Amino acid sequence: MPLPVPVLPEGVDPAWLPPAAFRAVGGRRTLIRGSGPLVETVHGEVAQACQLFGGRVVRDAAPDGAYDLVLGPGAEDLGDEGFTLAREGGTTTVGACGGRGLLYGLFHVVRLGEDAFRGERARVVHRPALALRMLDHWDNVAVHPVMGQVERGYAGGSLFWEDGRARGGLERVRAYGRLLAACGINAVAVNNVNVHETEARLLTDRIGEVARLADAFRPYGIRTHLSVTFAAPMLLGGLLTADPLDGTVRDWWAGATRRVYEAIPDFGGYVVKADSEGRPGPFAYGRSHADGANMLAAALDPFGGTVHWRAFVYDHRQDWRDRTTDRARAAYDHFVPLDGEFAGNAVLQVKHGPMDFQAREPVSPLIGAMPRTRLAVELQVTQEYTGQQRHVCWLGPMWSEVLRFRYDDTRVGGLARGGLVAVSNAGDDPFWTGHPLAQANLYTFGRLAWRPDAGPREVLDEWIQLTFPDAPARLAGGLHAVLDGSWRTYEKYTAPLGVGFMVQPGHHYGPSVDGYEYSPWGTYHFADRDGVGVDRSAATGTGYAGQYGKPWSELYESPDTCPDELLLFFHHVPYGHVLRSGKTVIQHIYDTHFEGVAEVEEARATWASLAGLVDPARHARVAERYEEQLRCAREWRDQVNSYFFRKSGVPDARGRRVY
Ligand code: GCU
Repeated sequence: MPLPVPVLPEGVDPAWLPPAAFRAVGGRRTLIRGSGPLVETVHGEVAQACQLFGGRVVRDAAPDGAYDLVLGPGAEDLGDEGFTLAREGGTTTVGACGGRGLLYGLFHVVRLGEDAFRGERARVVHRPALALRMLDHWDNVAVHPVMGQVERGYAGGSLFWEDGRARGGLERVRAYGRLLAACGINAVAVNNVNVHETEARLLTDRIGEVARLADAFRPYGIRTHLSVTFAAPMLLGGLLTADPLDGTVRDWWAGATRRVYEAIPDFGGYVVKADSEGRPGPFAYGRSHADGANMLAAALDPFGGTVHWRAFVYDHRQDWRDRTTDRARAAYDHFVPLDGEFAGNAVLQVKHGPMDFQAREPVSPLIGAMPRTRLAVELQVTQEYTGQQRHVCWLGPMWSEVLRFRYDDTRVGGLARGGLVAVSNAGDDPFWTGHPLAQANLYTFGRLAWRPDAGPREVLDEWIQLTFPDAPARLAGGLHAVLDGSWRTYEKYTAPLGVGFMVQPGHHYGPSVDGYEYSPWGTYHFADRDGVGVDRSAATGTGYAGQYGKPWSELYESPDTCPDELLLFFHHVPYGHVLRSGKTVIQHIYDTHFEGVAEVEEARATWASLAGLVDPARHARVAERYEEQLRCAREWRDQVNSYFFRKSGVPDARGRRVY
């Protein structure tokens, strides 16, 4: 029986799957062959498209020339997720041996639109570069007194949890799973990595609620994962210890995990934040993070599950007077000595930069330094430090730089074996992501996880075409113009040259140059009257630059060879230091801050000119957010420029207004 396509609740935006995106498929004759639950999902999709656009769908007939599209078992083994696409003699054929492959093949045809049914097409094999393409939701079940329902969430409440429980109706979760599958995502963690008391119980007596979510995701090929607390054996099991080498603790995890799999047979596994920002972990027992991760890996192993162990471990109670401790070094220092010790079903989940999702950071040296460990790289789609979904900041180019970074002459070490993970930006907002244009970030993440070497701008245009299927060239061009380059614009008007932070403490929105300067969080810029930046060289600084292999260790080591955009991340330099661009640091700060604001003004005007081409509610929502973005960008410009003028006493060479 075809599975009906989830019905969007009234007023919820269809995002990149509006009905019109299915016109090409829906107007044709399609044959679907094969069996299995996801084949029913595929059938449901095609049946709905045909109902809308007058086509016809047939199951399990012999493939003769009567069909425009045939979706069915392929001739070769491409794993569960791969598919082939070809067109010959007027028939487009998608071949896949797994249900997921067939579903991804269908969505590929949807993306191609009419092009999928033109001319001939040589057979092409499509398969994801990364097996795990996962979203972590930082959703709390109970509203947290400080962080609210969704930690670092800028899109309303949680899609999963409401009033302290899993939502009653899960049609929207099904629709979310459908959107995620359409961009290639295949795993979701349904609760915050900071596991508070209520959420801890999802592992045991509240696993039924997680099972319901897993049921909603399954028809779109998405496996469900759970964040768990390392202290669970004490908190939930009444044990006196959580020591990973203690037999009773190991037995407790084995039993709890068995019961999880009784409830959710295809459960993906655990996500763990341990010994990080106050969360419990193995250090309390003098054990290593490999001991901790391997204990959970052992519990999950009989069922094919994976533990995602986060490498975000650093001292968050640092003394700002101490210039020898460097937070950027921490993940590498903690984890590299453990390379080779992690179990095969333990994945070390590493943030893409060494600090914390700033608009500009170098790529974490840890990613290239653990060849014998399965690594997953973690990105932040939710815009904690990049405008909180009030600013347009399309992150495709940043992620692409991370994914294409070469540590040496090999590819990013170990990445392919562990996957790509991101913190989701979606919530129960009618546009899913608060800012309607932030949908582009979610879509881009999924597509880059499937194909990390894809050109981000191609992905952007794909998103535009799907989301606005009948867009005239002026609209498509306008959307491209306001999104492409928006990350650079954001970088220009915020913290300069890779120095990072300078945000308001706590909520992290808007400027505060010294907000974290004398704090325990390890995030300093060290500006004084003579200069600014952090000396992370091996020769005179914290030694962080030495954590890279060549050529990076050498390039980053000297201010003369360090790329401009990271200069203040790696070096403390005088304001008169001349960048590779030929400008002084202080003049660069002034210029980029004026430019950044001018670029926001221009984008706002471009958006205004698109009124009438976009539906009014969406247009109004974006227009309103541009007002806020512009206000905030001006605030950033004036605070940062004034701060550095006052510190340095050097006036702007162009005599613009600095306060
Ligand atoms: C950042 C963020 C926290 C989050 C943490 C993490 O520090 O501000 O809210 O918990 O990252 O990734 O664990």
